[in-house]
Amino acid sequence: MKKHLYIETVGCQMNVLDSEMVVADLKRHGYEMVDRPADADTVLFNTCSVREHAEEKIYSALGKLRQTKERHPEKTIGVMGCMAQKDQKIIFERAPYVDLVVGPGQLQQIPGLLEEIRSGGGRQMAVSLGRKEGKQETIRRSHETFDPLRDPAMRPTPFQAYLRIQIGCDKFCSYCVVPNTRGPEQGRSPDQIVREAETLAAQGCREITLLGQTVNSYRFTDAAGHQTNLAGLLQRLHTVAAIDRLKFVTNYPKDMTEELLETIRDLPKVSTYLHVPAQSGSDEQLKRMRRGYTVADYLAMMERIERILPAASISSDFIVGFSGETDADFRQTVDLVKRCRFKNSFIFKYSERAGTKAAQRMPDDVPEAVKSQRNQELLAVQDAISREDNQRFVGQTVEILVEGPSKKAKRRGDEGPLVQMTGRTMCDRIVVYDGNRRHAGELLSVSITDASSHTLIGHVRTVHTGPEVYQLQATGSGT
Ligand code: 5AD
Ligand code: SF4
Repeated sequence: MKKHLYIETVGCQMNVLDSEMVVADLKRHGYEMVDRPADADTVLFNTCSVREHAEEKIYSALGKLRQTKERHPEKTIGVMGCMAQKDQKIIFERAPYVDLVVGPGQLQQIPGLLEEIRSGGGRQMAVSLGRKEGKQETIRRSHETFDPLRDPAMRPTPFQAYLRIQIGCDKFCSYCVVPNTRGPEQGRSPDQIVREAETLAAQGCREITLLGQTVNSYRFTDAAGHQTNLAGLLQRLHTVAAIDRLKFVTNYPKDMTEELLETIRDLPKVSTYLHVPAQSGSDEQLKRMRRGYTVADYLAMMERIERILPAASISSDFIVGFSGETDADFRQTVDLVKRCRFKNSFIFKYSERAGTKAAQRMPDDVPEAVKSQRNQELLAVQDAISREDNQRFVGQTVEILVEGPSKKAKRRGDEGPLVQMTGRTMCDRIVVYDGNRRHAGELLSVSITDASSHTLIGHVRTVHTGPEVYQLQATGSGT
């Protein structure tokens, strides 16, 4: 008998990838996906703990299922991901009708645990050891990476995929819960990664985004003692013929070495988009955040990028209102954004997280209203920069990987072969244009006619060659 699965995913790209893996696994165990929790006999939430808001959203979604579970006790409700690892039993206390709690290191156990619940074994929980709950090696082994199963049906597009190269994080920034929830940093073996890239290519994938919390710190030492870093891995992946583009996120400023930048420069398939979170523009705050670099170090990295990869696009993350942030600290962050002119920045209000150094030792002392005001100000500064920066593309021709109908076209339910389409440039800029659905998954040259802070508006010449057949021709050559 087919079992019906509904899965909801919040959080980062790692979670999107984890959901793909879990769905692929459950499909092999006889599950079928459904679009609504009401139609499912198994409801899973893949959760995020980075900020309180993400957790509250999940607890509220769980709250909505309380009555459903009362009426249909046979339905199984599960919480997986970072919140499962962080809150563990607290989830059963806050939502007693939850049947399953599974951390990011135990995803491969989900089919078995669901079977156990179904056959009357009661509530199940599987989580990793905490960072101080055993010997290093035992802790490491309790966080197992789970990657062999790839399911194109779960991806936003079949020709783009994430590939995990590293799990965990050892940087221990004082505000961040990730080293606790995802455990020690561990690189996957390059042989395994290359094999997985080949599988993805055979499934029709053309763009791979390598994932790691600090992806450019990637290291793997094989049995013979030979070490591979991200530069070496990119060189190997570059030889996978059917892959046109390689991206990687998220980078750690201190590990953006000349060797890596030169490798990116010399490998044409590697994207020149670099997401390197700065988090703050104040040395005092960076120290409290335990980021391990100064503003001068960050600027020196920007100078290296500018020198070796002059056409690169850089994006950043910032936390505003972290413990002790003064107006003067915040002004320095504004200055850094103006100086670096990032392609875009993701800006977050500080959210205190239990179990972090900051929660133990640094008061969450910036009032919410001040956090909001700083958030808005920094967003406005960044937005103006992004808009000006995007204007430079007007009149140019760019090459994009066509992803498919745009959000607007999907929202409107547009039909027919010609719709508003969307794609991305090599440097991760979003382009929308009117075009043919058939071009999804292809590289296409588009001339840019207009730009906003988040989107480039493009144009391709459309030739109507018959009642059913549309052909598109680009108006210029690729950049
Ligand atoms: N509060 C707010 N933002 C946070 N981030 C990480 N931890 C916190 C926190 N406690 C942000 C950082 C990171 C991004 C993924 O989330 O900017 O780069
Ligand atoms: Fe969190 Fe810092 Fe690790 Fe990023 S580098 S995941 S912010 S601890």
